[in-house]
Amino acid sequence: MEGLTKHFPVRQGMLGLSTATVRAVDGISFDIGAGQTLGLVGESGCGKTTTSKMILGLERPTGGAIRFQGEDVLALGREALKRYRKAVQAVFQDPYASLDPRMRVATIVAEPLDINERPSAPERRRRVLELLDLVGLPQRAADLFPHEFSGGQRQRVAIARALALSPRLIVLDEPVSALDVSIRAQVLNLLADLQARLGVSYLFIAHDLAAVAHMSHTIAVMYLGKIVEWGEAGLVSTEPKHPYTKALFAAALPIDLDSAREDIVLSGEVPSPLDPPSGCHFHPRCPYVMPRCSTEEPLLRADAGHLVACHLYSPGADKGPSASLAPSTAVPRNARDCRADELSSAGPRHGPALPYETTPRLLPSGAASQLNPSRPPGARRQEAGEAAGRRRRRRRGARRRGGGPGPARRRARGRGARPPPRTCGGWH
Ligand SMILES: Nc1ncnc2c1ncn2[C@@H]1O[C@H](COP(=O)(O)OP(=O)(O)OP(=O)(O)O)[C@@H](O)[C@H]1O
Ligand code: SF4
Ligand SMILES: [Mg+2]
Repeated sequence: MEGLTKHFPVRQGMLGLSTATVRAVDGISFDIGAGQTLGLVGESGCGKTTTSKMILGLERPTGGAIRFQGEDVLALGREALKRYRKAVQAVFQDPYASLDPRMRVATIVAEPLDINERPSAPERRRRVLELLDLVGLPQRAADLFPHEFSGGQRQRVAIARALALSPRLIVLDEPVSALDVSIRAQVLNLLADLQARLGVSYLFIAHDLAAVAHMSHTIAVMYLGKIVEWGEAGLVSTEPKHPYTKALFAAALPIDLDSAREDIVLSGEVPSPLDPPSGCHFHPRCPYVMPRCSTEEPLLRADAGHLVACHLYSPGADKGPSASLAPSTAVPRNARDCRADELSSAGPRHGPALPYETTPRLLPSGAASQLNPSRPPGARRQEAGEAAGRRRRRRRGARRRGGGPGPARRRARGRGARPPPRTCGGWH
């Protein structure tokens, strides 16, 4: 995607005249590599679904370009567009709404085949059973109706339908949001397994940031129609740069008392995309806001393996109240020029497990290294050991400098109470 934009006119009155514009998506650029997952996150209304609809051809972009395997999708002829539509499929949030209750599963799964390939009856049956097997459903599921399945099984049917035409990209718009936690893990495992077997790419949209961090190779964070941070999943989730990303991950993931992470609490509502704030759209809610933030729009710049749109990372920036924000070595660039290959130094894809004991394991032990051949088995355990070592050294250094325990433990000691245990945040 390059400078992808979608503005919706707001029409009012008898004549339907356009009186305002909703800037749903405002010039975003990103790449998704073959066999890779891009996680797209952000608060409600930031433009995630509109982005996915433009990729699926359900909305015509107002500006920008979509390129698929080198071709400009918006300029494709009829036959080429048909090929593109076969190659890009979708799985939506609600498996109850996305499956026709009057059709048997065999008909639902075979629908894309019937429309595009018209196979013979025996071939059609063979393909349906193969697809059901691929998503872990028994053969007898073919003759049942959607209401005879649980939510997780229905989502498997939706995934089987999406796989029918051997797509190269699947848009997953909140595919597990409607499922309970244990079923979520099963469906996410299935998606990761299918990616490893078939080499399909995913655009993974979700509000569950632990799931996004675990499933994605890269993560893009959107705020009011713009990408504000983009980088390797492990880096963005554990060392976010943009204040908005920090706030998102701080709100979504459990607190680690040993972590040096800054926890920012977001206040206020997301402003309306009808009238976004000037300069940096995030400035009315940002704890680090500076005078230039309300007048000057920050561009995406490379900073330590991330692309981040924030004046804190501009050369010579005033670092505001945060002393721990890394100094920038960035070269100013236009957002359109910042592409995934610039992050190639970011190292392995499929981000490491989040370093919190309470984060549910979404994949069986060792599965991540199987999914990513460049990641040797045992690498996750080794990284966790190294991270624990770094934390121990940091604590020892702080004690030597007279820093003592962290603020939560100091407050607890001041009140004469037993300090909260370090291991589980006091919930045990
Ligand atoms: N057809 C439309 N006409 C006018 N405005 C629209 C239309 N579709 C979406 N919008 C607006 O565009 C903005 C982005 O909507 P979108 O559905 O992409 O958000 P989202 O990030 O997917 O949110 P959520 O997380 O709640 O699904 C919203 O302000 C929405 O009201
Ligand atoms: S540009 Fe300014 S307001 Fe925007 S996120 Fe950075 S510090 Fe905050
Ligand atoms: Mg949405």
